[in-house]
Order: sequence, then structure tokens, then C-alpha cells
Amino acid sequence: MSDKLLYALARPLLFSLDPETAHNLTLPLLRSAASLGLPQLMSRPVQDVRPLMGLNFPNAVGLAAGLDKDGAYIDGLSALGFGFIEVGTVTPRPQPGNPRPRMFRLPAANALINRMGFNNGGVDAFVRNVQSSRFYQEKRGVLGLNIGKNADTPMERATDDYLHCLHSVYPYASYVTVNISSPNTKNLRQLQQASELDNLLAKLKETQSRLADQHARYVPVVLKIAPDLDNEQVSTIADALLRHRMDGVVATNTTIARDAVQGLPHAEEAGGLSGAPVRERSDRIIRSLRTLLGKDFPIIGVGGILSAGDAQAKLSAGANLVQLYTGLIYRGPALVRECAQALAGDHLS
Ligand SMILES: Cc1cc2nc3c(=O)[nH]c(=O)nc-3n(C[C@H](O)[C@H](O)[C@H](O)COP(=O)(O)O)c2cc1C
Repeated sequence: MSDKLLYALARPLLFSLDPETAHNLTLPLLRSAASLGLPQLMSRPVQDVRPLMGLNFPNAVGLAAGLDKDGAYIDGLSALGFGFIEVGTVTPRPQPGNPRPRMFRLPAANALINRMGFNNGGVDAFVRNVQSSRFYQEKRGVLGLNIGKNADTPMERATDDYLHCLHSVYPYASYVTVNISSPNTKNLRQLQQASELDNLLAKLKETQSRLADQHARYVPVVLKIAPDLDNEQVSTIADALLRHRMDGVVATNTTIARDAVQGLPHAEEAGGLSGAPVRERSDRIIRSLRTLLGKDFPIIGVGGILSAGDAQAKLSAGANLVQLYTGLIYRGPALVRECAQALAGDHLS
């Protein structure tokens, strides 16, 4: 049975459940299936090596952050054919996130709204999970570790949270993503403003350089930004990325805009909207970033990939690699291979 058919059968069942229940059911199943080596699920990644930030990405399609916040399912997820896996967002201390329900499907728009609020078990448990994965132990691929701040840390102490997490995850990461763009932690996106960003990036780079000496390994640090930025804001961020010699940028997180889903059930739920409605916003930001950052600055494009064509459009807009999350919910794991194959084809032709 192909993974496409398997998912066609599983999807109605999963969609009959509350989205978070479906999520909590699927990930342990995936882990068991992967550890048993079920051939339908074990999809060797498409080989299309992309060197970027000093790393060799086996192919250009990664898992976006947020699906595995605690890094507890890395081995299962890595069996789906991704070229790289990003887990987190993790915070220094454990926190429950927002009350449920906090994730909603908008099937008519191939979209989700979530206000999870960085529910996670804290960075110490996260590191233990990463350490115990075979993916990490056997250096099977590229692993991004995504860091954030606790909801109850005052904004003026936000930098401390990022530095704490950077210290803890550094030795285990292929790269670290600094998430300042979730709409679900109050005022987090303020960190994208010029003076706050300057201060944060300066301290991150200082710490990265100390950690690189200490561990005798340079781990790239990239910044994840929102799609809800005007041209001036994008230009401020691009300037800061270059000035502080950041290693890359992930564009983008979810949107707080609702224009594309007006009138649909759940459209008015608070949180970040992902999937098809964020695609064009994310592509616009990627296009501006490529112009502002020049041809060599690493950009990971994410937002609304539901087909191989969407992934190709991200690369045409200027991304070097792509990630996806919501597409996996609507299209299943076959989407990963489909995108990786299409991008490999483009790459070689
Ligand atoms: C339920 C859910 C939880 C998410 N949690 C995180 C997170 O913890 N950290 C993060 O950087 N992005 C998070 N994201 C954003 C995704 O990584 C991605 O940037 C966004 O959903 C756009 O991509 P997509 O349209 O392919 O889903 C989350 C997205 C969803 C749908």
C-alpha cells in the first residue's frame, strides 16, 4: 500500500477528531511504525544535497517547527523523507501553553489556526529527548533546534531566555532558530523592531562565538520572522541580519491576517493562520529579503506549501530551502517526497 493511499484512508478518521487529539494520536503511532521499520512509512529521503550555512542538507524540504515542540518524535518524523527536521519552539522552563481548544482546522482553505502558546516541557527535557534520538546519535541528518521565551518572562528579560536556550541546545544542534515571530506569546513580535532586534542579535552573536570556541564547532544561528511585516520593517530586519552577520533567516511564521479566510468556520479564532492563505504573504517577504540580502544570504522559505508547485515558487522567490507543516496535515507524507523530487528535478535540469 502506498503512503498516499494509507493517508487517504487515515485522513477522514483523523479529521473526525479534534485537531490536537489527532496530533497526539498520530505522533506516537508514527514513532512505533518507524521503530518497527514499516516500509510504507520508511521513505528514504530524495537525494539532492544542498550545501548551505556550512551544512549538507540531504534535500531541500524540511519539517517546520511546532509539530514536535519537545523533540520527542524526531526518529518517527525523520522517516517521512524530509531533508531536515526542525523541532521546538522550546522555552527555558516548562509551560502548559494556552487552554484547549487551541488548534482549529479550516479545511475549505487548506489552513489551520493555532494559539498553542509554546506548550513544552522545558529545555532540559528537550535536550534529553534530542540526545536519546537515533537521528542525533547516529548523525543521520540535519537537525534544527528552535528556541523561544517563556510567556511569564517579562519582555525586558526576553534576551536572557534566548541566551539560556542557546547555551543548552548549542551542542546538539545542526543549526539554531531564534523564534521572535509567534503571535501567541504576548508582545513577542516586538522583538522584530529595530532597537530590540539590535540588542538581541548582538548578544546572540557574542554568545554563539563563545560557544563555538568552547565546543570547537560553529553552529549557525538563524532568525524566524513573521509574514505580517511592511516593506520598511522587512528592510530594518534585513539590515540587522547583515550587520550582525546572522547565518540565515526563516521566512515565515503564521499570519494574524484573516482576509483570505473571512466567513469560514473558525476564521475568527485568535492565533496564527497557516497553510494556503499564508503562501503569498510568505513569498512576498522572501522576494523582498532576497533583494535586500543579496544572492548568497541563506533563506529558508516556509508558509503554505501544499504542492510541489508551491515549493518551487518558494525557490523562485529566492529561498534556498523550504519547510512545511500544515501541508503535511492536509496532504500527508507523500507531499514531502513530491516536493523534494520536484525541487531535485529543477536543480539538476
Ligand atoms: C499548530 C502549529 C504550531 C506551530 N508552532 C510553532 C512553533 O512552536 N515555533 C515556530 O517557529 N513555528 C511554529 N509554527 C509555524 C510553522 O513552523 C510555520 O512557520 C507556519 O505554520 C507556516 O508554514 P505552513 O503553512 O507550512 O504550516 C506552528 C504552526 C502550527 C500550524
